[in-house]
Amino acid sequence: MRTVHTIQALRSAVNEARGQGLRVALVPTMGNLHEGHLSLIDEAKKHADFVVASIFVNPMQFGANEDLDAYPRTLEADSLALAEHYCDLLFAPSVNEVYPNGLDHETRVEVPVLGDLHCGASRPGHFVGVATVVTKLFNMVQPDLAVFGEKDFQQLAIIRKMTQDLCLPIEIRGLATSREASGLARSSRNGYLSAAEKDKASAIYQVLTQCHDKLKKLSADLETVRLEAIQTLEDNGFRVDYLNFAETKTLRPATAEDQHIVVLLAAFMGTTRLIDNIVIARE
Ligand code: PAF
Repeated sequence: MRTVHTIQALRSAVNEARGQGLRVALVPTMGNLHEGHLSLIDEAKKHADFVVASIFVNPMQFGANEDLDAYPRTLEADSLALAEHYCDLLFAPSVNEVYPNGLDHETRVEVPVLGDLHCGASRPGHFVGVATVVTKLFNMVQPDLAVFGEKDFQQLAIIRKMTQDLCLPIEIRGLATSREASGLARSSRNGYLSAAEKDKASAIYQVLTQCHDKLKKLSADLETVRLEAIQTLEDNGFRVDYLNFAETKTLRPATAEDQHIVVLLAAFMGTTRLIDNIVIARE
């Protein structure tokens, strides 16, 4: 696997692959790779001949009081793991390479409405940062397809919409959330949890599956189920940021008649903010 740090070196490596007629996939990440990320690489490998992974801790998507500085940077270990999964090219640019004009002077990409709900309401500006950096990465690599995890359900919906709205000729593939044996969704932020906190954090998946079982029936009362779920999380030591039921495609608040809904939640265990979701087909 080759590693490049500049857009110029990236373009020349990708052009070479394209010259050989290879189909190119991109897996954008912020590094500190775990099994979930590596399954995205495996998925990309199934659908493309030349897989590019990017590692870039994107300052534009972090709020002022968030964990940008503390975010784990583990480039050496990440690079070994990517090579073991037959990634072809690692792109690890500096902040200056991605934002040469400085964050406040760069053009931004905004996905209205979809980007303002749920995590967008709790983390103003977050999805503008995500949409902007993903657009830049798409333009730098110009992949045929890109792979993202479904754990970030709203992010994936925003990237799909942005790709469609901006007429980008890129296929977006989502991959099911990778979970530990306890059900806890794999996330770089799990590394912030103590062993005891991690134990308690598995309550998230239990709550999601309970919501799934209760909401499968169209007759269930949404607000009762929602309040019970919040209570269970609080009983397990969480501070709930939000727990919402949304229509799967638009992510607008779910109504009693919606057949396809998703439970979206963000909750703090100590100072660590975790997100997760479950999709429900109702009958
Ligand atoms: O999901 C992530 O790791 C990031 O939000 C992404 C898509 C790499 C953009 O920085």
